[in-house]
Amino acid sequence: MRRPLVVGNWKLNGSLAVNEARMQAIVGAEKDIHQIDIGLCLPYVYLFQAQQLLANTNIMWGSQNVSQFEQGAYTACVSADMVAEFGCQLAIVGHSERRHYSAENSAKAVIRIKRAVDAGITPIYCIGETQAEHAAGEAKKVLAAQLMALLDLDKISLEKIKSFGLVMAYEPVWAIGADQAATPELAQSMHAFIRDLLSKFDAEFAQKTRIIYGGSVTPENAKALFNMPDIDGGLVGRASLDAHAFSSICAAALNYQAPSN
Ligand code: PGA
Repeated sequence: MRRPLVVGNWKLNGSLAVNEARMQAIVGAEKDIHQIDIGLCLPYVYLFQAQQLLANTNIMWGSQNVSQFEQGAYTACVSADMVAEFGCQLAIVGHSERRHYSAENSAKAVIRIKRAVDAGITPIYCIGETQAEHAAGEAKKVLAAQLMALLDLDKISLEKIKSFGLVMAYEPVWAIGADQAATPELAQSMHAFIRDLLSKFDAEFAQKTRIIYGGSVTPENAKALFNMPDIDGGLVGRASLDAHAFSSICAAALNYQAPSN
């Protein structure tokens, strides 16, 4: 059985005061929820605040990236070991906004996945096609290339990632910050495709890996998405900035247990 996972990606939003109110509201709403995993990914500078406010609650916290470097002369980079010191259990890696605005690519993302796992942090590896790739019918080709970049890692690292675990996030770029999410049927077909790709690494790994959907998840569409057999939760941007909306999305994941096939 895969446990549903709902993660809020706050992106470049927040302030000490706003975060405190929002985290307290989410903690209050979720305090009796133990059937699903819930996480919040904040800007680096607020990870200390998250650690203060979320320790001893059922909400995990994480960063929105980690550096591919371990240490040294890399101005403005933040390592996986550093965020681990602030109790992060999660780190988003390869988000399309990083790929778009900061020229990140899958080759760097897979090294970041390795760094996160080495630091004891679960990476959330975001993959997804752009509008143009979608329109050209190339979505699956793009997803395969992004995911199979893991094979560029050395064997020992790959084995470590498989045994520690990672979370995959299917985030079609055209659905992020858009008016509409992917339909549940389309998202399901892509998630099933991703799971099939994961089975090329190992059948058990494919079955245990959570594949969450991101791109305009709302309280209105969450249930239909999460009810799909290969959609194990959500990566939520805008709606996670509203504690009430985020809690409704968590509730949509609550009664759902994905079949283990
Ligand atoms: P959105 O963002 O929910 O605002 O579309 C999702 C994401 O980018 O992770």
